[in-house]
Amino acid sequence: MKILAVETSCDETAAAVTEDLNVLSSVKITQEVHKAWGGVVPSLAKRDHEANIDWVIEQALVNAGFPIESGMTQIGAIAVTQGPGLAIALGVGIAKARDLSEKYNKPLVAVNHVEGHILSALVSAEKSNTQNQKSKQVSFPCLALVISGGHTQIILVKEIGKYKILAQSLDDDIGEALDKGARALGLGWPGGAVLEERAKLGNPKKYILPMPMARRTTNAFSYSGLKAALIRVVAQLTSCAVDGKLSEEQVNDLAAAYQERVFEHIVRVLKRILNDDLGLVINDLLVGGGVAANQSLKSKIQSVCDDQNVRLHYPENMVLCTDNAAMIGVVGGFKAAKGEFVKPAELDRKPRWSVESL
Ligand code: KG4
Ligand code: ZN
Repeated sequence: MKILAVETSCDETAAAVTEDLNVLSSVKITQEVHKAWGGVVPSLAKRDHEANIDWVIEQALVNAGFPIESGMTQIGAIAVTQGPGLAIALGVGIAKARDLSEKYNKPLVAVNHVEGHILSALVSAEKSNTQNQKSKQVSFPCLALVISGGHTQIILVKEIGKYKILAQSLDDDIGEALDKGARALGLGWPGGAVLEERAKLGNPKKYILPMPMARRTTNAFSYSGLKAALIRVVAQLTSCAVDGKLSEEQVNDLAAAYQERVFEHIVRVLKRILNDDLGLVINDLLVGGGVAANQSLKSKIQSVCDDQNVRLHYPENMVLCTDNAAMIGVVGGFKAAKGEFVKPAELDRKPRWSVESL
């Protein structure tokens, strides 16, 4: 069944057409307006979603090869992100999906955004003959690691659609921590990708930042202490500088030290959970979320998986790591196959919807 998917949970206005695990088209507009504010402003996100939603949907239908006048007739169901996310941003995608569902008489599927990130590693960016091959390579139960601006979770995937959160952040999420660290170093927002580039030029051992939750063995994440430590070091260094600024070398070294600690923390908790006696055999790890785009983190996760004899499943490209509608379409396809539809009039946003309560 061909699914038209819509995603507006944060600052990307996205639409896609998918079929099983295959992406027939995927279109997104990343809102630039928030850069000046150093973070997502919900009212501006809503305004931009409203301005762009019709265009991304039309482009998704056209790019999937459907005629512009009759594209919707090719679609079997509409999937939309119901949560978690910014309430007024979610509302734009939901209202549009409800309208289309009623106008064209298409069944509607409500999708959890985190479930989208969990399954994004299974999505085939290119249509191939090996349809569904990827999901056949995954044995359940498996683990998922979702690392993005708004999520830091290790999740037990009992089967597709049944999840249990094993670890999550007590304060800042990993992408948020990278973005705030980048901002403290004067690198703009969002900063994860810039921080990665600057970290490659720096010496991670020049400055010693604290290891988050160093003496705790709880399966949880915490980044606010590390962020505060970085801000303190920046304040000390700039107060000693003649021009009151960090040198380029200091920025590179601090970026390297900070990123290293952020990733060491993730890897430590991941290893501990893989070593924990879950009473289950875990052979597969699915990774998703914007921070997964980081190559240094990817190689750290790969070596944990190699050590533990676990197969690593990673999104095929950067677009599938960050927020996108293709992952929503793929989850929508699984739910449609099980007949899990919702009535348009009953679909409302769920800003704090946990993936555990599907
Ligand atoms: O998945 P995503 O688009 O949105 C949320 O669901 O939150 O993730 C956005 C996050 C931002 O914090 C951004 O800085 C981070 O992903 N990010 C990266 C990289 N590219 C994007 N973090 C580290 N390295 C990157 N290359
Ligand atoms: Zn996301």
